[in-house]
This record gives sequence, C-alpha cells and structure tokens, in this order.
Amino acid sequence: MKIFLDTANVDEIKEALEWGLVDGVTTNPTLISKTGRGFEEVVREILELVEGPVSLEVVSTDAEGMIREARRLSELGENVVVKIPMTEEGIKAVKVLEGEGIATNVTLIFSPTQALLAAKAGASYVSPFVGRIDDISWDGLTIVREIREIFSNYEYQTQIIVASVRHPKHVLESAKMGAHICTMPFKVLKQLFKHPLTDVGLKRFLEDWEKVPQKPF
Ligand code: E4P
Repeated sequence: MKIFLDTANVDEIKEALEWGLVDGVTTNPTLISKTGRGFEEVVREILELVEGPVSLEVVSTDAEGMIREARRLSELGENVVVKIPMTEEGIKAVKVLEGEGIATNVTLIFSPTQALLAAKAGASYVSPFVGRIDDISWDGLTIVREIREIFSNYEYQTQIIVASVRHPKHVLESAKMGAHICTMPFKVLKQLFKHPLTDVGLKRFLEDWEKVPQKPF
C-alpha cells in the first residue's frame, strides 16, 4: 500500500521524507490555510520536495471554473494531481481533464456509488473520507470495502486513496482490504512506528549492552 501524507506543512513533509516512506502528498484548502502561508509559495516548496503525486484542490464550483483552475495547477509540476469535489459539475470537469491528460482525484466521497460515478468519468483517484463518515456514526471502512469490490468487478483503473484518516486502525484496515493508497496526517504516520514493547525491549538491550566487557563500538 502506498502512503501519502495528508498535510501542507513543509517541515512535516521533510521529516517524513527522510524515513523514505512517503509516496505522495494530499492537500486541501483547510490544510493550506493552516500553514498561514501563501498558496503558491507553499505548493512550490512541496513540489520541489516530493517526487510522487501531489494533490491540489480546485475551489471553483462550476465545471468551467474547475477546468480553468486545474489547467493552471497542473502547470506547477508534472506530479500535480487535481482534486475535484464530487459534484455533477466536478464529474463533468473530470471527464474533460482526464481527456487532456491531467490526473484527477475526486474528493469528498462518502458513498460507494459516488466512487462508481467518479471511476466511470475516468478519475485517476477517488478519496473516500473514512473519519468523517465515522463521525456521523456510520462505518467509513465499509464504504472503502464496497468501493474496492465495485472497482474490481469492473476492472476500473481508478485508485482508492483512503482519506480523513484519524488513527492507525484506519491504516491497518485499509491495508488489509487492499486499498491502493492511504493518506494520513503526520501524527498518524508517527503513531505507526510505535509499540510500547519495542521501547521496553530496546531499553533492556541497551542496558544489557552496557554490561558487555569488550565492546566493538
Ligand atoms: C483528503 O485528501 C483530505 O485532505 C483529508 O483526508 C480530510 O481529512 P479530515 O476529515 O481530517 O479533514
């Protein structure tokens, strides 16, 4: 499973890239606004750092405006993927953009049938928001499982990006069901490293190493 970082924070991206585990980045207007920086400044920095796909979201709500913004965004870098909201206008835009070779990520997916429409329109990616579905007492991961089944029934090439990830269990279940990508906040990626027994075990090894009489280093 590919790991994307769901952030526009350049420091987080730099640190995670050092681990060699980050395959791409997803952003949205909220994440950009959290940086307190100008859009183009922060995005150019991200694109310089990241080789894999970087999702940047349009803010127009009509197809024409989305297409115009998407064309501009795609000029910022070859790895730009344009995030398009799951609306009737959005789906129109996806069809045009994919026809022009501009990769799209249909965002704000909350049902498997929305994902089906996005795949039929030729979207490169769909982003089901598992955490926000859980927030309304539904099961976000069930939606991902259903999308996976539909896509494999018809051999759609659209890749599933599990989004709105809140904790490691979301990552675990996404990997078990074979989602192509999981995009997660930096905090969740850090949590994946952790296990209390790893810490206890390492501490004990280091203490015991101190008792070894002749050490090579
Ligand atoms: C997806 O690409 C979105 O950026 C993101 O996962 C939304 O997550 P949130 O529900 O935590 O805002």
